[in-house]
Amino acid sequence: MMKRAKITIIGAGNVGATTAHWCAVAELGDIVLLDIPQTEGMPAGKALDLMQAAPIFGFDARVVGTTSYHDTAGSDVVVITAGIPRKPGMSRDDLLGTNARIVGAVAEQIRRTSPSAIVIVVSNPLDAMVQRARDVTGFPPARVIGQAGVLDTARYRAFLAMELNVSVEDVAAMLLGGHGDTMVPLASCSSAGGIPVAQLVSPQRLKEIVERTRAGGAEIVGLMKTSSAYYAPAAATAQMVEAIVRDKKRLLPCAAYCDKEYGVGGYYVGVPVVLGAAGVERIIELEMTAEERAAFQRSIDGVKTLVEAMAQLVN
Ligand code: NAI
Ligand code: 2OP
Repeated sequence: MMKRAKITIIGAGNVGATTAHWCAVAELGDIVLLDIPQTEGMPAGKALDLMQAAPIFGFDARVVGTTSYHDTAGSDVVVITAGIPRKPGMSRDDLLGTNARIVGAVAEQIRRTSPSAIVIVVSNPLDAMVQRARDVTGFPPARVIGQAGVLDTARYRAFLAMELNVSVEDVAAMLLGGHGDTMVPLASCSSAGGIPVAQLVSPQRLKEIVERTRAGGAEIVGLMKTSSAYYAPAAATAQMVEAIVRDKKRLLPCAAYCDKEYGVGGYYVGVPVVLGAAGVERIIELEMTAEERAAFQRSIDGVKTLVEAMAQLVN
């Protein structure tokens, strides 16, 4: 008999709780939702609320909310959404330092309580936080992965589908590079119904769509004011959880540890990977145009700067 996967989600805020929701509805496994002791009953309350949705949707997933790592022990997948968002007056370094300390403390607990887990990091700034989780857990890089590209491609695909007035199901895309600002869309890998988008959208409109995608997170914060996006980020994260617990071998853009790959030299960057039961099972190296290569290099340089700044703040 196959056992249900155990999925722990650290941080029961907007992204964490919504990830629990998507994972439960898709029956990906039993779910533990953890937050800090100061939140008291909040994670337990959200878990109970989700359990009461189960009879309506008909999902058989046990959802538990807690503030104790004891309940997370032996998880197959751990998602890290813990952190604070950037507040007015706060510098990028303040956020970087605070979230690096939070993600470091969380990773230390995961190392102790779920030593065989595959870890998906969502906390921002993503490309540095995934590195931090890997450094502190000491897990093999294939088992520590960052979520950014699935969200960024989803935004891109949504905007392309709106532009073309076609089903989102027919729009495919692949991106490289960092989360948001430094992402590199690949024209040769973007299509609608298998037709390259360059044949369907004018270069000017395509450029505008790419810019809107790059600023996709900021557009939503600008509208919501008191929080950032969470439905699509959580859906993207749940898709990665599904690829792992169902060993689907999905080919998705994820922040993966690249050493020789693309000549990155030991940093996390967004690349196409095959995601399955072992985590990152393969990194796909793509041909790029000179322009794409230059943009990808800028993205790698940005990650290096971020990781170096983080090292100054946490050491
Ligand atoms: P939120 O503020 O709603 O939730 C964060 C939760 O983390 C809070 O409930 C807080 O109590 C908890 N937390 C703080 N320190 C903790 C610790 N040491 N252990 C456990 N839990 C802890 O924030 P939201 O909207 O859920 O965002 C979470 C993070 O995800 C942020 O850093 C955000 O920037 C990032 N994000 C990343 C995306 C991506 O594509 N990579 C997309 C959307 C958000
Ligand atoms: C986003 O892209 C804030 O990273 C988050 O919406």
